[in-house]
Amino acid sequence: MSTHAKLIVDDKEYLLPIVVGSEGEKAIDITQLRNQTGFITLDSGYMNTGSTKSAITFLDGEQGILRYRGIPIEHLAEHSTFVETSYLLIYGELPNKQQLQHFSQLLSNHSMIHEDMRHFFDGYPASAHPMAILSSMVNTLSTYYPESVNVFENIEVQSTRLLSKLRTIAAFSYKKSIGKPIMYPLNHLTYCANFLHMMYAIPSEPYEVDQDMVKALNMLLILHADHEQNCSTSTVRLCGSSLPNLYTTISAGICALWGPLHGGANQEVIEMLQKLKDSDMSPKEYLGKVKDKKSNNNIRLMGFGHRVYKNYDPRAKILKKMTGVILSKKGIDDPLLDIAMEMEEVALSDSYFIERKLYPNVDFYSGILYKAMGIPINMFTVMFAIGRLPGWISHWREMMEDPDRKIGRPRQIYTGPTERPYVPMDKRK
Ligand code: ACO
Repeated sequence: MSTHAKLIVDDKEYLLPIVVGSEGEKAIDITQLRNQTGFITLDSGYMNTGSTKSAITFLDGEQGILRYRGIPIEHLAEHSTFVETSYLLIYGELPNKQQLQHFSQLLSNHSMIHEDMRHFFDGYPASAHPMAILSSMVNTLSTYYPESVNVFENIEVQSTRLLSKLRTIAAFSYKKSIGKPIMYPLNHLTYCANFLHMMYAIPSEPYEVDQDMVKALNMLLILHADHEQNCSTSTVRLCGSSLPNLYTTISAGICALWGPLHGGANQEVIEMLQKLKDSDMSPKEYLGKVKDKKSNNNIRLMGFGHRVYKNYDPRAKILKKMTGVILSKKGIDDPLLDIAMEMEEVALSDSYFIERKLYPNVDFYSGILYKAMGIPINMFTVMFAIGRLPGWISHWREMMEDPDRKIGRPRQIYTGPTERPYVPMDKRK
């Protein structure tokens, strides 16, 4: 393959270096483009822009491949735990026994939040969306750890502290929303069991953590743990590039995740399926509305389509299977699963979806599984955030260690008025 791409502008020729990744992905390095030619590139939504090199996650959207540090997502979902996968993402290798024990111990040591922070939960209205609470509370952590302003120091402690505390904050915000007393973490429990205990136990009764749910939760969090340069991870990199502390940086990522076109889609999927059930509308009828662009109704089939996947999202495949297994094991008959499966079947044989290569994404089935686990709908995106945290941290660390790191600062093509005079108030129309 050539080492350079040739660009001709106004009869002048420029050579731009070609960069090739370890899986053969190709890019044209345009770092010097403006210096050499006076041009910038324009790429709305960053459809074709590689913002960084990264050794964390490989994703092939055409073939439906997802690997963390080279290991296929299918293998991790079947054999790993969320804590082990977090270690893999952050440190690049699977941990040995001692490393895993040490990492788990660190997570246990940091599970509590400062007692004063508990009172903050009382300040939110009962109707507060838990994503708003989560992002605010994560940013608030920085006030309790002022040393975190030194972004290049104590990276290990900051990372594990945040990984551990996020699930505590999430569970506390849920308890607040239902008006029940919070449950403190129990450090002899594993990461996922500890979270389920904080979510569902009450002080007045014994509570036994359901091991099937622990397994399902581990798998769900593993599937969400990283997805290379998606909207929230790119937000983490962009925000982090101006060097605020880690908590503030992750808080920005949580906000980006909240939107319905990103992590918020899992909530929207269940709301859509519920609406169909309540109104007796068939999936075919609903798809008719989705396809009807003339009426400008802007309805999308939530949980379908992806910027990168033009094939079945491998995470959705695993989730669909796991959802069926858990529902039948627990004897849960959820009509929303039947509607979802029918919807998928109809959509995948419809020319609109075939032509646009729209397949179920990770959010299409995750909500049904969360629902079976007793997670309320408005907590779905919070669950996504807990899962995505090790990915965000890994990308932040990779960026901080990059000797070529620069503040993220895209350019633009200005399309507003050219220079004109200031008009005094009495002369304006
Ligand atoms: N339902 C109906 N039509 C769709 C859908 C959908 N879910 N997704 C894309 N399309 C159509 C668009 O209308 C467009 O059609 P057109 O060419 O006739 O105008 C075409 O497919 C391309 O769509 P874009 O919006 O340009 O694709 P983009 O890559 O920008 O968007 C996105 C990707 C945001 C995920 C989109 O597919 C979508 O809105 N999906 C629904 C929301 C969702 O499930 N989000 C979760 C994504 S996964 C995640 O973040 C974890």
